[in-house]
Amino acid sequence: MIKRIASDQLVVGMFIHDLDCGWMAHPFLVSQFKLTQVSEIEKIIQYGIRAVYIDTARGLDAPGATTQSEVNAELDRAIAPVLAKAEKPVPHIPLSDELVVAKRVLLEARGVVQDILSDVRLGRQVEMERLDPVVDKIIQSVLRNPGALTSLGRVKQKDHYTFQHSVNVGVLLVNFCQHLELGRDVIRDAAIGGLLHDIGKMRTPDVILNKPGKLSDMEFNVMRQHVTQGVEVLRHVAGIPAASMEVVAQHHEHMDGGGYPRGLKGDEISQLGQMSAIVDVYDALTSIRVYHQAMEPTQALRKLLEWSPLHFSGELVQRFIQCIGIYPVGTLVRLESGLIAVVLQECASNLLRPTVRAVYDSRRDQPIAPRDIDLLSPAVTDRIVGHESAARWKINTRQYL
Ligand SMILES: [Fe+2]
Repeated sequence: MIKRIASDQLVVGMFIHDLDCGWMAHPFLVSQFKLTQVSEIEKIIQYGIRAVYIDTARGLDAPGATTQSEVNAELDRAIAPVLAKAEKPVPHIPLSDELVVAKRVLLEARGVVQDILSDVRLGRQVEMERLDPVVDKIIQSVLRNPGALTSLGRVKQKDHYTFQHSVNVGVLLVNFCQHLELGRDVIRDAAIGGLLHDIGKMRTPDVILNKPGKLSDMEFNVMRQHVTQGVEVLRHVAGIPAASMEVVAQHHEHMDGGGYPRGLKGDEISQLGQMSAIVDVYDALTSIRVYHQAMEPTQALRKLLEWSPLHFSGELVQRFIQCIGIYPVGTLVRLESGLIAVVLQECASNLLRPTVRAVYDSRRDQPIAPRDIDLLSPAVTDRIVGHESAARWKINTRQYL
């Protein structure tokens, strides 16, 4: 049986089923292994992993620990009222229209960020004024329809991860700030901070940055230095807003003090710092990386909820779930009828009942002519029963948006 257990309750002889830290490279060879020495437990705790899943069929039991299905049931209970409270404004521009513009904005933003970050690698100065036009375009696109850039951002090429991730964190922060109704200046500072948050990685040696296997303890520590390196790179750059620096400096801090580099706790981390930690992990989880497959947004949001409040502010995670929506635009879902559908447009008053485009009939196991269904319509009795993996069904969701 799979059980969840606090890391400080682990004992030698237990079998680690999942280190439950899928968003980061970790200093263990594999995520599943039997604990053979106390030093392994100490390392788990030292790296800020507060809870793990164990397999009691393959190692010692932990009587009284919560089972995985109990954890899932608990998450279901926790997420339902969060979604019920959600109120999302209707976008100003239809998704299909904004996607055309957003594709150009995304390409431009990735290009500019790549240029700026590459300059750092070459030891050149960061030119802030190059960011301004692209920051404006991102903010305008998110204001017109937040689903467009956000859904496009989930599709990444395998190369250039750092540049694409940087742009996504910028986009997601703008989206999140707007959802929290923060002021225009804060949104701009957040965007800049997001685009540059991993700039310190340009000082991390490539062999460590792109290493597909296990990182040694030393390599892992070098990787973590990207935060202080980033602050160092930007410290002398004219015109960098203080709030943007908070994003760079605090995006790996955890609410319980288990993050890095400073081990800040709770309110010692600024609001933008807390928000950037959430969006950074969300984007990493939903991306294909060398160490994990991409998670569906729905699954990633549940993980954020599971990891709060130790890692993240519980309140902010709830707001982020409402911001992204449990079935964001572009997600593949299964309907009760067996139809497989792509989420086209979220419903402002009920995040569980978006408008979807049905593209496949799983009961007959065949594609169907695309058909739009408004799940909130009183005439429609179908409903979403869960998300589906686009890879499993070999469905390119983007082609249906
Ligand atoms: Fe980072």
